Amino acid sequence: MKTLFVVSGGDAPGINAVMGYYAALATRYGHEVAGARDGFAGLVAGRIVPLTGDVIGPWVSQPGSYLPSSRVPVLKDAEGQQAMADVLAQHDIDNVILFGGDGTLRYIPPIVAQLGIPCIGLPTTIDNDVPGTELTLGFDSACNFAYHAIDGALATGRALPGRIFMVETLGGFSGMIALDVAFGAGAHAVLVPEYAYDDAWLGARLLEAAQRDGYALLVLSEGVAASRTLFDDILRWTNIRVRDIRLGHAQRGGIPTHRDRSLAAQMARLSFEALNADVLRGTVVVRGGATLLHEGALDGPERLPDVSRYNFVNGFDPDYEPARN
Ligand code: F6P
Repeated sequence: MKTLFVVSGGDAPGINAVMGYYAALATRYGHEVAGARDGFAGLVAGRIVPLTGDVIGPWVSQPGSYLPSSRVPVLKDAEGQQAMADVLAQHDIDNVILFGGDGTLRYIPPIVAQLGIPCIGLPTTIDNDVPGTELTLGFDSACNFAYHAIDGALATGRALPGRIFMVETLGGFSGMIALDVAFGAGAHAVLVPEYAYDDAWLGARLLEAAQRDGYALLVLSEGVAASRTLFDDILRWTNIRVRDIRLGHAQRGGIPTHRDRSLAAQMARLSFEALNADVLRGTVVVRGGATLLHEGALDGPERLPDVSRYNFVNGFDPDYEPARN
């Protein structure tokens, strides 16, 4: 059996761990593994490289992706799909393991499966916004990275009172990272793209927190519409020093945590078993806390930040129903 890895979209901590564990398993059972460089853009151009456990092994603990990814929609027309079919045939690829987020896992597996080539999807994005799974690979590491930054800032927050810290997380159009981090870090307020907030409420809340606790901590997601202008607004509303920390892509490059490495190991084992059992299409998901293979198309409700946590961070009012943005 020859399996091809393709990474599409944003990289996430833990991808290399899946590759390393899978390659080790495949080698042990006498199978081959190859990888597409540069995602599907590289695949259709024939950039296929062999992968063995000893090549990928040293990368297991590293964030990012040994195989570079891309976000180019090369499979949107018949020409691109034919080019992919040709390359898969030329390289004797029996099946594909696809690493990606919501867009990738929704649109690509049916195209690959149409060729009769089994395809197992692995939800890999720090954003944790893939419907059908409670957890995506990389989310835990990205949250942990944020705690390091917040803990550092709050050392000064406590030692030298009189500051409002704004910590901006990644997350694209999703507030899952910002909300979980705000909850876990005991933030005074959180802003996520999904829920509306009021300027006067935010200003008063931060001012009150800074006067009471000596500092205020606001966590916000990069997808919040006003994220670029809030710094000046908060200073104007409160007249307290505002300190702005944007985690940016450094957050996506956090060291894979224990939880992500465990999930990576399970993803490797379950996808290896599924491909050995000739499952045509499936996704490794986390449901009810258990990691399992979901066969067929992946679906599920839109992933929204948990309102009860949002209310807890933003005012301890469990009955408050925030307006959707
Ligand atoms: O992969 C998801 C993500 O990390 C988002 O959180 C973020 O908005 C985006 O990717 C950043 O990636 P790019 O630099 O390609 O826009």
